[in-house]
Amino acid sequence: MPADFVIAIDGPAGSGKSSTARAVARALSLAHLDSGALYRAVTLAALRRGVPIEEGRLHALSQSGAIRLVLKNDEFVPTLGGVDVSTDVRSEAVTADVSAVAAMPLVRDWVNGELRRAARQHNRGVVVDGRDIGTVVFPDARLKVFLTAEVSERARRRAIQDGGSLESADIHALGEVIAARDDADSTRAVAPLRPAPDAVVIDTTAISFAAQVEQIAGLARRVHVD
Ligand code: CDP
Repeated sequence: MPADFVIAIDGPAGSGKSSTARAVARALSLAHLDSGALYRAVTLAALRRGVPIEEGRLHALSQSGAIRLVLKNDEFVPTLGGVDVSTDVRSEAVTADVSAVAAMPLVRDWVNGELRRAARQHNRGVVVDGRDIGTVVFPDARLKVFLTAEVSERARRRAIQDGGSLESADIHALGEVIAARDDADSTRAVAPLRPAPDAVVIDTTAISFAAQVEQIAGLARRVHVD
């Protein structure tokens, strides 16, 4: 596939975009680029270095060169001071602050530049997942997919992913946290979460992971041949 071949997968928290994007990339021998990991890396860097969650300070932090995307086995991983932080960025503390960080236009500009640079670096093409990939970052992506699922199902999947409790009260509580983050991401002024007009919307509530990966890989093969 050509160097500028981009597949954009957007959707809310727990819709399965990152794991789906990774599997689609593998099926097509493309690289995977998780934009949320970069917002999380900026948040982690701020928490670790005691930098206040304030736009000017975070802009300076992002431009300091401390945070970089590094390609490892066809996966772009976030690094902080040269150390892979792909696990650390998933912490609860980071999750609690990341939507506020991602609402800052100067942080978004920096992340978007890094994403575009990473995509250009990879000679076969990339599958990029996030909230605004098809709408803002790669508006010319060859294929745009928007994944959705009911909140309760997304909470259940997130609990499994994080090894958390599957008790219904706990799933309900997690669902409320997820719904609050969806709301923050969908109602913010800059690059709100919404499907691009030309995105294929797939509701994954009732379909298997393998089926959704196969559906998207099939769509990608078709646009590549066209
Ligand atoms: O994996 P999960 O859905 O929990 O979140 P993520 O993809 O790691 O993204 C974390 C946060 O970064 C989201 O809640 C958004 O606030 C923000 N984000 C964004 O604004 N734009 C993107 N393209 C990706 C993430």
